[in-house]
Amino acid sequence: MALKITVIGTGYLGATHAAAMAELGFEVLGLDVVPEKIEMLQRGEVPIYEPGLEELLRKHVAGIEGASGRLRFTMDWAEVAEFGDVHFVCVNTPQKHGEYACDMSYVDAAFTSLAPHLKGPALVVGKSTVPVGSADRLARTLAELAPAGEDAELAWNPEFLREGFAVKDTLHPDRIVAGVRSERAEKLLREVYATPLAEGTPFVVTDFPTAELVKTSANSFLATKISFINAMAEVCEASDGDVAKLAEAIGYDDRIGKKFLRAGIGFGGGCLPKDIRAFMARAGELGADQALTFLREIDSINMRQRGQMVELTRQALGGGSFLGKRVAVLGATFKPDSDDVRDSPALNVAGQIHLQGGQVTVYDPKGMVNARRLFPTLAYADSAIEAVRGADVVLHLTEWSEFRELDPAVLGEAVSRRLVLDGRNALDPAVWRAAGWTYRAMGRPAA
Ligand code: UDX
Repeated sequence: MALKITVIGTGYLGATHAAAMAELGFEVLGLDVVPEKIEMLQRGEVPIYEPGLEELLRKHVAGIEGASGRLRFTMDWAEVAEFGDVHFVCVNTPQKHGEYACDMSYVDAAFTSLAPHLKGPALVVGKSTVPVGSADRLARTLAELAPAGEDAELAWNPEFLREGFAVKDTLHPDRIVAGVRSERAEKLLREVYATPLAEGTPFVVTDFPTAELVKTSANSFLATKISFINAMAEVCEASDGDVAKLAEAIGYDDRIGKKFLRAGIGFGGGCLPKDIRAFMARAGELGADQALTFLREIDSINMRQRGQMVELTRQALGGGSFLGKRVAVLGATFKPDSDDVRDSPALNVAGQIHLQGGQVTVYDPKGMVNARRLFPTLAYADSAIEAVRGADVVLHLTEWSEFRELDPAVLGEAVSRRLVLDGRNALDPAVWRAAGWTYRAMGRPAA
């Protein structure tokens, strides 16, 4: 008989995982503790912008016309425990307020709510990003609270999906990591992921701590690549080098690779910044803090990029104060194809210039609602052309394809000065310069 799957936590990760499991052919029951989320999902809607996710939900959510009906939602823990053979825990692990460490309260609550209802054989699979050692502790929680005793087992199966590519990354992952303690757990996970495995996806079986560490070290490596190239951008800036050419040239070396070498205002979002901080905090608790001191530098290079963008803007406007200067900001989200503004470098730069007296107008294709909520004091425009009207400088801070497709000649008619600063090294300097613009980017020569 086919396995039945439950997904606990229907945020960005859980909603995608639940829809993907239904797409793979499983009967799926999703649980959340927030009634509004459940109501939205039951209508096939998601509170976030994620390409392809709503379509996938509508294809499977029970009650929607034409849907497979394989995906349902509930708030009832007993129902979830009764229904599922495999329970995926997909709840959030945010940064603790005022600390580097990660807040495990949602994960802990999920385990203590589910475990007492597990009366028969079940595999509970942690997917959330957690400090190393958590799985071991949570296995003990399960053993203590689940009436099923040893029949209720834990596995750790970290998730590597990227915002903007969540559906694709879930259905076609680069690899599947399975932290397991028994052959039974491994067999069940192989059964769940049979389709990607049949397509040749590598399946890496590990112990619990390694599985947890794969996730945090992968994110640390990605953050390191970005801060490395941003450090090179600073050196290029000081020596009239061109960081875009440098990245291209070093990227031809397979050992280095081309990806994640785009210099600019750095990384943000709900994952990389908090994950490297939580990793440092956990290493400290384990007495291994010296091993990760470099991450402190990675974090500070990253945060410095935002300030440098502000300074580049100030210099380009002739130095001195921003008072009376009209600054158009293209992009508010932390990356394109997402409406997520958490720890967004773009909004941070916009906010700094605004606080220093600049008249900032922001436009973003999908992030306006969230940006307005986070930064209500900034001015917002409904389109790129409206944002740049009368601007003394245009800042390109999130590399949406919409911005690459803008016609600099048309924009040039709307601004008061043809000055564009590319905080993402993603516009074509030749095209903008040909249309009479002064183009500047971080780590690249002035002309
Ligand atoms: C990241 C990881 O990529 C993913 O595997 C993990 O599961 C969650 O964290 P995500 O937060 O969606 O995913 O964003 P990602 O695509 O990694 O980008 C992070 C940030 O780095 C963005 O702000 C992006 O603009 C920035 N970035 C990325 C750069 O500044 N330069 C680059 O070359 C690449």
